[in-house]
Amino acid sequence: MTKISEPNGIFHHQDGPSLKRLPDEFYNDFLSDIAKNRRPSPIRSLFPLEKTPGVISLLAGKPNSLTFPFTSLSFTAVSPTSSDETTLTIDGAELQLGLQYSATEGLEPLLDWLHGLQEVNHGRKRGEGWRISVGCGSQDLIYKAINAMVNPGDSVLVESPAYAGVIPMFVSLHCNQIEVETDAHGICSSSLRTTLEQWPAGKPKPKVLYTVPYGCNPTGMTATTDRRKEVLQLAREHNFIILEDDPYFYLYYGKAPRYPSYFQLELEEPEAGRVLRFDSLSKILSAGIRIGFATGPKALLNAIDQHTATSNLQVPSLTQIIVFRLLQSWGYDGFAAHVQRVSEFYREKRGMVKHLTGLAEWSSPEAGMFFWFKLLLAEDPTAASDPAHNDSEAVIRTRAFENGVLALPGTAFIPNGGRTPYVRAAFSLIGEEDVEKATQRLRETILQERAAVAARRVQNGIAVAAAA
Ligand SMILES: Cc1ncc(COP(=O)(O)O)c(C=O)c1O
Repeated sequence: MTKISEPNGIFHHQDGPSLKRLPDEFYNDFLSDIAKNRRPSPIRSLFPLEKTPGVISLLAGKPNSLTFPFTSLSFTAVSPTSSDETTLTIDGAELQLGLQYSATEGLEPLLDWLHGLQEVNHGRKRGEGWRISVGCGSQDLIYKAINAMVNPGDSVLVESPAYAGVIPMFVSLHCNQIEVETDAHGICSSSLRTTLEQWPAGKPKPKVLYTVPYGCNPTGMTATTDRRKEVLQLAREHNFIILEDDPYFYLYYGKAPRYPSYFQLELEEPEAGRVLRFDSLSKILSAGIRIGFATGPKALLNAIDQHTATSNLQVPSLTQIIVFRLLQSWGYDGFAAHVQRVSEFYREKRGMVKHLTGLAEWSSPEAGMFFWFKLLLAEDPTAASDPAHNDSEAVIRTRAFENGVLALPGTAFIPNGGRTPYVRAAFSLIGEEDVEKATQRLRETILQERAAVAARRVQNGIAVAAAA
């Protein structure tokens, strides 16, 4: 049996008997009709054969790179362990690789590096039924995964509140979004169990569950190991795949040792293969470089690749080679040092957020870049229980904006819509002075709203008295 150890948050995989995993045929039931009807690209599916020794390829309509004007590319990057800068140059055959079309799933050297990264951080070995595809950010891959697995009208499990960028994907497929309750410790697995155990007989059960387990966008929550294990168990008992969207994995700054990912925890399951994991380089290298990667069962990644082969063909080779050169120059230790630095940056920023004591409730995030404030919009406890006075939408969109602060009302993150007193505040960009001002303006906004709520209640009271 494979064991997991967690010294300093780095996971190690101990050698043992080969991992038991679900067979490729298992995923046939998880593919959408669209995915099943896609045919492999007649050109791209033959790309690997070009590497056959002695073969002369007349296959692809690749332009001749001798005609390309670029001869070398240099960039400078900060060392992960000091403030020194290093210049890296890409030229010759490597540049040609970056200037040419390349494999749908990603450029080979980058893919190889990323496989190694997953081995180091999640203890999963190559050759055990999983692989990686690179996408134009993780968003691209999540969209393709959902389209590859979900048919129009299907029921899907979505943590609530959920990342606002994923809700439209389910809405456009007219999905029955089952909102899965969450709290500061992650998905409320007992409530999920109840939902699944009370599922109407004869109605197809959801095939996927979407969650952001580290520094969730929007709630900032990080799911504990116990909760993750319970969700994995439910996935096995009720036959669904976990879409582990984890762009804030490397932005963990909690004091406790890092919790293992779902992808890692699968090592303790009787059979692995129920997790499709999404990583992003956006929060740690650059959001504009648009590189993310999906890790999981080959059958699901093949379906994603077939989508890519008919849509954007591949992630730009040039950005992949730039990222590869940087990562290769750092090595895995350098990468770990870099992300440690980044997470420390956000930990310090989190500390700058001043208290709105008595005017809002919140849990301090342990990863990521979001505070999830519950605005206490009514002072009077009887008014506070009235849903009409528990809606942050208008308060944030108009009153807060007029007071000079912009934030996102919680409704944007409720899969099926509805009122909520919550608001998401991103603390990634602002400096100390602006934090002070923003908190002050939010405070003013809440106090003004409280006064308005009180006035409305008096008016209503007068109206009721007059009618009587
Ligand atoms: C939870 C979540 N998933 C996915 C994404 C998309 O990230 P990427 O830039 O890798 O496409 C974001 C971006 O903010 C996010 O917060």
